[in-house]
Amino acid sequence: MIEMSPLQKKRLAYLPKTPPILKEATVEAFAEHKALPELEALFPKTFHGKTYRVIKWHANGVKTLKVGVMFSGGQAAGGHNVLTGLFDALSPHSTLIGFLNGFSGILDNQYIELKKPQIDSVRNQGGFDLIGTGRTKVETDEQLKKAASTVKHHRLDAIVVIGGDDSNTNSAVLAEYFLQQGLHTKVIGVPKTIDGDLRSKDIDISFGFDSACKTYSELIGNIARDALSSKKYYHFIKLMGRSASHIALECALAVQVNLTLIGEEKLTLEEIVQRIVDLIVQRYRAKKEYGIVLIPEGIIEFIPEMRNLIAALNHLLAEGNAPIENVVPLLKKEERQTYLKLPERIQAQLLLERDPHGNINVSQIETETLFVDLVKTRLKELSFKGSFNALQHFFGYEGRSCLPSNFDANYGYALGRLAALGAEEGLTGVICAIRNLSKSADQWEMKFVPIVQLMRLEVRHAKRKPVIEKALVDLKGAPYLHYLRKKTDWEIDDHYIYPGPIQFFGDPELTDSCPITLSYSKSVSS
Ligand code: FBP
Repeated sequence: MIEMSPLQKKRLAYLPKTPPILKEATVEAFAEHKALPELEALFPKTFHGKTYRVIKWHANGVKTLKVGVMFSGGQAAGGHNVLTGLFDALSPHSTLIGFLNGFSGILDNQYIELKKPQIDSVRNQGGFDLIGTGRTKVETDEQLKKAASTVKHHRLDAIVVIGGDDSNTNSAVLAEYFLQQGLHTKVIGVPKTIDGDLRSKDIDISFGFDSACKTYSELIGNIARDALSSKKYYHFIKLMGRSASHIALECALAVQVNLTLIGEEKLTLEEIVQRIVDLIVQRYRAKKEYGIVLIPEGIIEFIPEMRNLIAALNHLLAEGNAPIENVVPLLKKEERQTYLKLPERIQAQLLLERDPHGNINVSQIETETLFVDLVKTRLKELSFKGSFNALQHFFGYEGRSCLPSNFDANYGYALGRLAALGAEEGLTGVICAIRNLSKSADQWEMKFVPIVQLMRLEVRHAKRKPVIEKALVDLKGAPYLHYLRKKTDWEIDDHYIYPGPIQFFGDPELTDSCPITLSYSKSVSS
């Protein structure tokens, strides 16, 4: 018997709001967009895949299917609801297999059958613990053969991959390979990541972003009130978001903190330090020696000199130049100078192992400490008279596995149902796409978009590889422009607001809110 808190038990009973259309739906192909021409040679079978939209028609004769599902990449609240939505939408005689710990589950044929008791135990619950997750990249022939052997063994009609950009790049590779091998198994992606960088004109946002941002915003709001009460600390808060700064921007709008760095602004290290120093000096003149600064973890790769350094290190490490002592002398003069100016701890963190997709683990780099150290030095040079007491925080893992907000519970569940429809319709190499999420569920637009259309070529492990393009913060977009308009006010006057914890019961204004950045984008585009 699984032990649960009273809130967990109450949440088991929550019924996600489902777009009515999904209960009796089918799809129609409506467009064929061309993907990047260079990708045709890599994805000859899926390159010309069509986009399908969900249309109301008549209730389907529900097929008996055998479907595999897996999580891949970082946890995101709402993931278990994708499983529950998928399970509920499949016909009663269908089979759902959960591959364990991400793609390695399918390569090694590690799985459990997901039946009603397991599924019922995770309704509206956080985390990915029912089947686990992983970051295995699928690219070698041997891996592809292993995956093919597993799907043949189970006679799977489809695999549903719940993952971010790298994971759904794997989905595209598998879909293509299965078609080339004449296999019957289809591959359907579901957009997941707290980072919010898997989006397109058809995908408003990935699930997990809302719950993570609401969790961080609650904590940041608490810290802001604490700072305002004691008036003695500057809090430097690093937030997750491997590349894009969507999380930082969302939290900035939610709490109205004094300064938020946005990686996409591409400031140099010197400019960042100057911006923080200016804030401290101006606030000191206004008799304020406290404040809140948000730092997206991905900013490190936007700082031009750091970007070059990281790219050079990635290249050298990918060429097998470990151990570390071998790498630094191989850097070009400018890169080496940047490297040697960094504190030793940061130098070591830059050399930590890359993930299987070739990404540097920015969560492990203490950017907040780096900035604080540089700011202290600069203040000393300026003979700053005030006091500067800095405290550093990192909010990342705290927000990935929380109980999903209603937004993510509803959205995750609908994505699961949509993936089931894709399996029923025999679609492959596509990702489930929902837009109009800031509106009520009956106005959502649902599609299946060929993954190859979202891809471009990027250097990973020193080679050009096809990957899904990350959606960065749009510096001309409504949410960022709104932040810019407010920025100066928020720097000196304190306009903190306190979002409090995610609400599950009561007034829909509190329980059913969508991400602030999404509502800004939509209010401008609609
Ligand atoms: P995904 O892109 O896989 O969703 O991961 C998101 C993320 O939470 C990033 O924000 C963070 O940089 C990274 O995962 C941390 O990874 P890990 O869990 O491997 O430490």
